[in-house]
Amino acid sequence: MSDRKILVTSALPYANGPIHLGHLVEYIQTDIWVRFQKMRGHQCYYVCADDTHGTPIMLRADREGITPEQLIAGVEQQHRADFSEFGVAFDHYHSTHSEENKTLSSAIYKSLRDGGHISSRSITQAYDPVKNMFLPDRFIKGDCPKCGATDQYGDNCEACGATYSPMELKNAVSAISGEKPIEKDSVHYFFNLGHFAEMLSDWTKAGHLQPEVSNKMAEWLENGLQEWDISRDAPYFGFEIPDAPGKYFYVWLDAPIGYMASFKALCDKQGLTFDEFWQKDSTAELYHFIGKDIIYFHALFWPAMLYGADYRTPSAIFAHGFLTVNGEKMSKSRGTFIKARTYLEHLNPEYLRYYFAAKLSAGVDDIDLSFDDFTQRVNSDLVGKVVNIASRCSGFITKRFDGLLAAECAEPALFQQFIDANTSIAELYENREFGKAMREIMALADKANQYIDDKKPWLIAKEEGKDAELHAVCSMGVNLFRLLVAYLRPVIPTLATNAESFLNIEPQAWPSNATALLNHHINSFTPLMTRVEADKIAAIVEASKENLEKTPPVVKAKAEKKPAENTVTSNEAIAEAIDIEDFAKIDLRIARIIKAQSVEGAEKLLQLTVDIGGETRNIFAGIKSAYSAEDLEGKLTVVVANLKPRKMRFGVSEGMALAAGPGGKEIWLLSPDEGAKSGMRVK
Ligand code: MSP
Ligand code: ZN
Repeated sequence: MSDRKILVTSALPYANGPIHLGHLVEYIQTDIWVRFQKMRGHQCYYVCADDTHGTPIMLRADREGITPEQLIAGVEQQHRADFSEFGVAFDHYHSTHSEENKTLSSAIYKSLRDGGHISSRSITQAYDPVKNMFLPDRFIKGDCPKCGATDQYGDNCEACGATYSPMELKNAVSAISGEKPIEKDSVHYFFNLGHFAEMLSDWTKAGHLQPEVSNKMAEWLENGLQEWDISRDAPYFGFEIPDAPGKYFYVWLDAPIGYMASFKALCDKQGLTFDEFWQKDSTAELYHFIGKDIIYFHALFWPAMLYGADYRTPSAIFAHGFLTVNGEKMSKSRGTFIKARTYLEHLNPEYLRYYFAAKLSAGVDDIDLSFDDFTQRVNSDLVGKVVNIASRCSGFITKRFDGLLAAECAEPALFQQFIDANTSIAELYENREFGKAMREIMALADKANQYIDDKKPWLIAKEEGKDAELHAVCSMGVNLFRLLVAYLRPVIPTLATNAESFLNIEPQAWPSNATALLNHHINSFTPLMTRVEADKIAAIVEASKENLEKTPPVVKAKAEKKPAENTVTSNEAIAEAIDIEDFAKIDLRIARIIKAQSVEGAEKLLQLTVDIGGETRNIFAGIKSAYSAEDLEGKLTVVVANLKPRKMRFGVSEGMALAAGPGGKEIWLLSPDEGAKSGMRVK
C-alpha cells in the first residue's frame, strides 16, 4: 500500500442551474483521475459541493416565491442525482451554505484581518431604488458609452468590446426592476492581494500550474494586483461578516473555502484528520480541477488566502478548456445546450465518459463534442474492439468447456506485453493525458483482435480433435480482455463492474502484477454495451430545443463570473421557468378580426385589424401559409394585448395573435366559441 495521501476537488457548481454537458467535462475528468488513483492503491479523496451563495440565487428564489434555502436544497438533489448517474463518485458532496463553511470562512477572514490584510473604505455603486439593493454590474443594462449599442451589460459591451463602469452606461436600467439606478455610497471590505505579490510570483512559477496558465499569471502579476472587494451589502444570500453587521462575504470568498468545508464534513464522517491535509507543512497532496474561466480565483486569490491564513497551498491547479458541440459554442437554439438529465434520458452515460476521455489532454484547449465522431468512436472502440473480444471468445468457453478457462497461458509473451504496458498507461493517466492513454489501450485492443483473427477460433471449432487449441486461444482472448477492462476501469466503471461479474473476479486493482486467469470459471457472457444509435442523438437535440421553448427567459442577467480578464461567459443566470406573477403580466384578450389583408412584399404575413373591445389594433401575423385573408374576417382569435409595439418593415405591430401548430398549412388560430365577445379577458 502506498503512502500517497491525495485530496482532489472539482469546482463547485452554482446552485442556480442544472448540470450540463459542459460541466461534465470537468466532473468526468476529475472522477477518472480519482478512480485511477484509488485503483493504484493510494489514499485519495474526492470532495465537492454546491456553490449556493450570491445575488442570482437570491433573486431566483425570490421570483419563485421560495426561500433560498428551499431553492438550493432542490437543486442539490438534482445535481447529486445527475452526478451519480454519470458515475461521478464523490467521497463527499456538501454545500457552501453549511455550518462547516461558515465556521471556516469566519476563521479565515479573522486570520487575514488580524494579519493586517483586510481594509475597508466607502465606495459608490449603482443602487436599485425600487428593489432597495445594490446592483451587481451584470444586473444593469443600458447603451454602450462608446458605440451606443443598446441592451449592453454594466461592465462591457458585446458589440464593440469596450469595458467601462456601470455608471458610464447611457439610459441605464436595473435588470431586476427596470428602474433607473441611483448612485449610493457604502463601506466595503477588501482583501489586500498586493501583500502577496512576492509569494504569488514565486508560487505561480513553481510548477503548481500548467505552463500556459503560469504564463498568463505572469502577465496578470506584471499589471499589478488590485485589492479584491470581498463584501456585499444586505440583502444578500451568504454569510454575514463577523465584525460587520449587514455586510456579507462575496460568494467567491466562501466558495473555495467550501472545498475545505466539504472535506471537514468527510473527516467527521470517516474519522480522518483534517489538519493532516490542510496544515502549513502538510505532506498530503491537494489538487483542484477547474475550468479555464475561473483560473484567476484559484491561482491568485485562493493561494493568497490560504497562505495569509497560515494554511498549506495547493499542490497543483489543473485547468481544462471549454466544451464546444459540433465545433460551436453550446447553443440553446441549436439544441446543443444539453442538460445532463436530457442526455441520461436517451443515452448510456459511459459513452460520454469514454468520449471525453478520448478527447482530454493535460492542456487548456477547448474540447469538441462532434456527434458523428462520438458515435463512430464509441461504436468502433468500445463496442467494436473491446467488448467484441469477449463476445468472440466466451461463447466457446461456455458451450464447449463448461465455462472453465484453460490451465495454461497460451501466449505468455503477449500476455506480458499487455502487463508491461501498464507503466506507460499509468503515466498518461497520472499526467491527465487521457486521450493518449485511450489510444494506447486501443492499440492493445487491436493486438488482441489481431491475435484472434490470426487464430480463427471459429474455424478451429469446426475441426476434429482441436479442442485443446480452441480452449487455449479463447482463454487467451478472455485474459487479454480482462486486462483491457482493468485499464479502462477509471473511465467506464459500470462496464468494468459488469465485466468483472462476467469474468467472476473481484474488482480489479491496477494490473502491474496481474497473472493470467487459469483453470478459472467464468459466467456466461451478456452484452456489455450496445452501439450508439444516431436517432437517440437526434432525440437529445430535439429535447434540448424543447427545453428552450418551455422556458422563456425572465430576468436575463449575465452569469456570475470572473474579473474582466476572464474570457468565457455562459448565460447561466437565465431563468428556467416563469412563475405565476410573470404569467399574470400577459394581457390575453379575445379579439374579433375586422379586416385581414395580405402585405405587399411579405410572403408569410397577413395584416390584421382586430377589435380588442372598443379599441382596434394593427397586428402582423405570419399565418398566410394557412389562411387566406377573406376567411379570417369576422373570426375571433386570442391576442396578447400588452406586447410592446414592434416596428416592422411594413408598419408597427401592436400585439400578437396566438396560434397553434407546427407551421405551413397547419396553423390554427384559436377560434373560441361564438358566445365569446371581443375584448373579453382570457384569464
Ligand atoms: N461556482 C463557480 C466555481 C466555484 S469553485 C470554488 C462556478 N460554477 S459553474 O457552475 O459555473 O462551473 C463549474 C465548473 O464547470 C467550472 O470549473 C467551469 O469552468 C466548468 N464549466 C462550466 N461550463 C463549462 C463548459 N461549457 N465547458 C467546460 N467546463 C465548463 O464557476
Ligand atoms: Zn460598444
